[in-house]
Amino acid sequence: MLEELIRSWDGEEVVVRFDQPTDSWIFICIHSRRRGPAGGGTRMKTYSSPTEALRDAMRLAAAMTLKMAAADLPLGGGKTVIAVPGPIVGNERRDLLLRYAHLVDSLGGNFHTGPDINTTPADMDVIGERCSYVVCRSPEHGGSGDPGPYTAQGVFHGIKASVRNVFGSDDLSGRVCLVQGVGDVGSRLADQLAAAGAQVLVSDIAAERAGSIGNRIGAEVIPPDDAIGVECDVYAPCALGGTLNAETIPRLRCRIVAGSANNQLAEPADARRLLEAGILYAPDFVINAGGVLYAWGREALGWTLDSIEARLAGIGDTLREIYTTAAAEGKTTEATAEALAHSRLDLPVLSPGA
Ligand code: PHE
Repeated sequence: MLEELIRSWDGEEVVVRFDQPTDSWIFICIHSRRRGPAGGGTRMKTYSSPTEALRDAMRLAAAMTLKMAAADLPLGGGKTVIAVPGPIVGNERRDLLLRYAHLVDSLGGNFHTGPDINTTPADMDVIGERCSYVVCRSPEHGGSGDPGPYTAQGVFHGIKASVRNVFGSDDLSGRVCLVQGVGDVGSRLADQLAAAGAQVLVSDIAAERAGSIGNRIGAEVIPPDDAIGVECDVYAPCALGGTLNAETIPRLRCRIVAGSANNQLAEPADARRLLEAGILYAPDFVINAGGVLYAWGREALGWTLDSIEARLAGIGDTLREIYTTAAAEGKTTEATAEALAHSRLDLPVLSPGA
């Protein structure tokens, strides 16, 4: 029930719009503006019900709050889900995005958006026609373009830090890495892992996409249903969330879970399940912050590409610290990462002049 969901959420605001012409629901969830305006992508997807769409948007928005805080960005967390009945293309898509842009604009800067699953810089260009609270428009339209390669780069650094923690060296040569989901981010991650000498396996529900990436880098293609149980060093979830749960974790045959997907854990208890299975988990909201570091670094914070590169490498350093602290305190890496993020959210607000 929508009412129950909204009542029980710990975020600040939910904006709901039913878009009659496309029969779509738009949910803008502003989870926290404690560190600054809420930032988060716009996801376009088909759900089993509006309730499921809202539930996803709320969880994704909360993850953005943690992501921004862990990355030490001056932003809060938010997310939009546009729950569409099916693929929306052409003018219909353009008009939907313009109406959506008007809605984002009406929030007066409380929420800033960018691309996410099934939206692109071209979509951000359309949104940018009606609203200035958007990052990752195409470079021709003055934006920073596709953040995917930078998200992948951050995940790559995170995988190296994780491999070093488990195996004592971050040398990837010969390490078996399974990339589950080879879309915008996963395909680039697969490239980087292959270039570093890893033995890459790829899997995707779109067989064609998996096949073409597999050919490109000489990677074995794993059928989607087999991905969870494949023996490997690193399992990198780079598609939709929720793949780690009570049913799948006992089937994992990896030493490390480190990938770009948001909300990889189906429920909080899964962090403990991974720990008890002897699997090192790179908290998703830490390892996948490369895209937001790039987009806001480039467009709002005046960072050079060099300083962005350094911050992407810093994702590895943050993970190293999290792993050390978690081991010392006997906590899960997820709990330790959340504590880090919360420590940056609970800062007392200084009164003017104080
Ligand atoms: N989709 C990105 C994420 O989940 C959010 C994002 C928004 C990234 C805008 C870059 C720019 O982190």
